[in-house]
Amino acid sequence: MRRASGLTRGVLTVLVLWLAGCTQEQSSGTVPDDIERFLERHWQQPLPAQGTLPADYTAIEAALGPQACAQCHEAQWEQWRGSLHSHTMGAGIQWQLHLMDQEQGNRCLRCHAPLAEQKALVALQQGWPGVPKSPPPEHVPPDLADQGLVCAACHVRNHQRFGPPANKPVPEPVPHGGFVASAAFEDSRFCATCHQFAADGPRVNGKLQEDTYAQWQASPQAAQQSCQSCHMPDRRHLFRGVHDRDMVLQALQVSLDVQPGARPGEFQARAVMRNTGAGHHFPTYMVPKVDVVLQLVNAAGGARRTLAHRVIGWGVDVALSQELFDTRIPAGGELVVEQAFSSPGAGEWEVELRLDVAPREHYERMFQDSLRHADVLAPEVLALLRQALAEAKATRYEALRLATRLPR
Ligand code: HEC
Ligand code: HEC
Ligand code: HEC
Ligand code: HEC
Ligand code: HEC
Repeated sequence: MRRASGLTRGVLTVLVLWLAGCTQEQSSGTVPDDIERFLERHWQQPLPAQGTLPADYTAIEAALGPQACAQCHEAQWEQWRGSLHSHTMGAGIQWQLHLMDQEQGNRCLRCHAPLAEQKALVALQQGWPGVPKSPPPEHVPPDLADQGLVCAACHVRNHQRFGPPANKPVPEPVPHGGFVASAAFEDSRFCATCHQFAADGPRVNGKLQEDTYAQWQASPQAAQQSCQSCHMPDRRHLFRGVHDRDMVLQALQVSLDVQPGARPGEFQARAVMRNTGAGHHFPTYMVPKVDVVLQLVNAAGGARRTLAHRVIGWGVDVALSQELFDTRIPAGGELVVEQAFSSPGAGEWEVELRLDVAPREHYERMFQDSLRHADVLAPEVLALLRQALAEAKATRYEALRLATRLPR
């Protein structure tokens, strides 16, 4: 499948930049505490295979697939299934894996399908070397890799379950040999493993491409709220973010105000978007963009005139070499859009504020740009690329529309 043409390598260069810093270790510069030591072992790279199956496990206790966990943990399964963690092996990464060798691919899988058993299945799919000679054992379902960031990737090591300390009575005996409780599961550093690059990771204009944990540490929320308290409320496995309208509305306090101007027939519109609810920048990294549009709208006729247009986000070119703009709103910060205008004339007029979210804007541009190499891509790779582009575009939505009458 690998085509070593110059053009294909051109596509690859872009992607390799993105992963370049991803394999670095977290370094805090302080003496490691228990949680840090636990996380170092829990997220060691690469994750070792689960090893010998305990003799007393039944088939359902042994199985690593989410459907098996669902037999007894249905609520977590229902929630996780609706989250992007169950879609980390979609077309967007699949078409790129086809262009990579095993070493490059495994660097992506570290976050997208981290279990050794998943990596072996991907190697089998891709025809990479280093595939185990025997077929996967019974406890490894053939679709384990396609299911993305599965339960076992966060919870199972050496066939042993790990989870947060129980916060309600635990029925005895617990299947799967019980579980090891660790406070690391309630700590934001648990998420930093994949949502924060190390200090020597890839940067654009001096800024780390993935810096969510550091942004959180600097936020007013850090003292009271962990990543989990907002993204896993009551331990629910929702992991909702910028793709979700309610989360975006939870992030921002929005106000719209129109005042008479200095002279008759003149007005001043003022919209304020304050990041009070995201415990990091809004949005946290370069991928999403939010269009802020102020328009003058005729209530009866539907006539519209745009007064102001801003984009909230971190704009970076597809080569990840140049910053185009950075208008992200830090935690506690605000964006103010002010616009003076004169009376539009007779009729009922309103000023309307709209927020349109493009959760994967950077990928839309990157995938579109990659289509320039369509002629050197194998048909199945091209089909995946087209699917990834269509899926990225389909995530766009309108988050908010507010309107205010012109004062008399
Ligand atoms: C046969 C039923 C059964 C199966 C299958 C099962 N579990 Fe459990 N598990 C339990 C029970 C019962 C407990 C006790 C605590 C509870 O009810 O949450 C438990 C506890 C846990 C805990 C600890 C919860 C805490 O409070 O920290 C984790 C984590 C866990 N299981 C993960 C998994 C994962 C991941 C899978 C699939 C790979 C799985 N379990 C499969 C029944 C099961
Ligand atoms: C991205 C990592 C991740 C994935 C994937 C994940 N979990 Fe969890 N899980 C956690 C964390 C973190 C907690 C603790 C949350 C907290 O304490 O706020 C947790 C808690 C739990 C608990 C304890 C719940 C309670 O109420 O005490 C169970 C049981 C559990 N997970 C099972 C599962 C199952 C089953 C799946 C798959 C359907 C799954 N998890 C997928 C990270 C994950
Ligand atoms: C350090 C962890 C990490 C590594 C390593 C990593 N990713 Fe990701 N990836 C993420 C996170 C977090 C997101 C979600 C945020 C986003 O959209 O950028 C993501 C999102 C994506 C998406 C967009 C979502 C989708 O399914 O369309 C694609 C495509 C992607 N990654 C491809 C890759 C490729 C290819 C590699 C290897 C070159 C890679 N990633 C390496 C963490 C990682
Ligand atoms: C105070 C609540 C809160 C805390 C704490 C918090 N988040 Fe968020 N997060 C949000 C809200 C609300 C959104 C949706 C708005 C947005 O995209 O910024 C979000 C969005 C995201 C996104 C979507 C991508 C994006 O560009 O915004 C990711 C990924 C994310 N958070 C990860 C994390 C991680 C990792 C931590 C901990 C280091 C964390 N969050 C801490 C509330 C929180
Ligand atoms: C093993 C790596 C890994 C770990 C650990 C992990 N994530 Fe993720 N997370 C990802 C990847 C990869 C994606 C991208 C999914 C996609 O878009 O394909 C993602 C996506 C998300 C999103 C969705 C963002 C959006 O664009 O809407 C949120 C929110 C999130 N993660 C929060 C968390 C939180 C909170 C934790 C800790 C409890 C956590 N993650 C732990 C890898 C990880």
